[in-house]
Amino acid sequence: MKIAILGYGTIGSGVAEVLRINQAQIEKKVGEPVELKYVLDLRTDIGVDNDKLISDFSVIKNDPEIKLVVETMGGIHPAYEFVKACLEKGKHCVTSNKALVDAVGSKLISIAREHHCNFYFEASVGGGIPVIRTIYHNYAGENLTEITGIMNGTTNFILTKMREKGADFEETLVEAQHLGYAERDPSSDIDGFDTSRKTAILLSMASGNRCRHEDIYTEGIRAVSKLDFLYARELGMTIKLLGSVQQVEDKYFAYVVPMMIPKSDPLFSVDGVYNGIRIVGNCLGTTMLYGMGAGKMPTASAVVSDIIAAVRHQHDFQGIGWTEKMIQIEPMSSNAFAYFVRVEGTPDAVKKELRELFLEDSSKLVPIALGGRTDEFAFITDVMFEGDFLQNVAEFEEKTGRRIFHFIRTEKEED
Ligand code: HSE
Repeated sequence: MKIAILGYGTIGSGVAEVLRINQAQIEKKVGEPVELKYVLDLRTDIGVDNDKLISDFSVIKNDPEIKLVVETMGGIHPAYEFVKACLEKGKHCVTSNKALVDAVGSKLISIAREHHCNFYFEASVGGGIPVIRTIYHNYAGENLTEITGIMNGTTNFILTKMREKGADFEETLVEAQHLGYAERDPSSDIDGFDTSRKTAILLSMASGNRCRHEDIYTEGIRAVSKLDFLYARELGMTIKLLGSVQQVEDKYFAYVVPMMIPKSDPLFSVDGVYNGIRIVGNCLGTTMLYGMGAGKMPTASAVVSDIIAAVRHQHDFQGIGWTEKMIQIEPMSSNAFAYFVRVEGTPDAVKKELRELFLEDSSKLVPIALGGRTDEFAFITDVMFEGDFLQNVAEFEEKTGRRIFHFIRTEKEED
């Protein structure tokens, strides 16, 4: 099969490298050679043979020998127009571009269906971790009740360093930028949007219908501090940025938030730039996929797995994806969590209010103070709906005149 790559940046050049390194193995597995015929890029000094490097997309679109196109340009335009034009010509398309899949995935899937070709996007979530195909194939017979993951390497690196070094967010972000893990404009990662796009794709995969990442409640990690990590250590917990989707009967819940998680959670040990995705099925129970969620070669490896699928399914439409029907995500206020809460002062004067507003009758207030500090303490609430919790925070502050400095949603350690 002859193929073309659109965009020869980190991922595009990685795809060419994986195809070259594993050429013999790939040919043996799919029964024919996979030959890179064109690379589309406007730059001229990118180490690609002149006969392969082009800047005119119509050459690829109009070449009947090209049966598969890999889109690794990023962004929505012109990636959308290029992929759409190729699918309309009956060319299979593979992308690593989560923004494209999140924004127009369902349209592209339906164009692919109409033109009897495939649109694959394994690398758009979890880099080298095969989560899309696992949900599509392996868990097709499962009623997936929850998918929760650490899906952003940059923020996981920052949070891991903050915990290990007792460092604050800003200084750790600067270190991550120096090491090349965080972008100069880091907002998409640290404000949670990258995770929310991936979460939207997973919810669409799990539900079979479309959702918008803009409808997913999203908080990043800017407000997580070294004090939060000191408390987490006292509690035997850690803090991770999680994207989560849950299905309860016909209702869908989804959010991206930093969460304090206990050692019993398999995501506790997913550190550094690694990603982990926990999947819960009604018969399956809990499994976790773990691996490199970003980076040139792991992401390129996932793109190549899609190329192999396209060669194997070159004569049939595989139908990985979802319909254009939009699902409704329940409001954040209807999710329930236990909350780690940092309160101004010492517990003695406000015990009564804390019990009334945040604990069941039978629960004990267990305050945590750091090294004899008297300016603040922390505790964990019972499980309550977010809407009630926020209302009770306002009531507590009004009644007592004490501030709640910060809260982080948490899971209570299972007994
Ligand atoms: N910036 C992303 C991350 C890259 O840090 O995980 C992969 O989407």
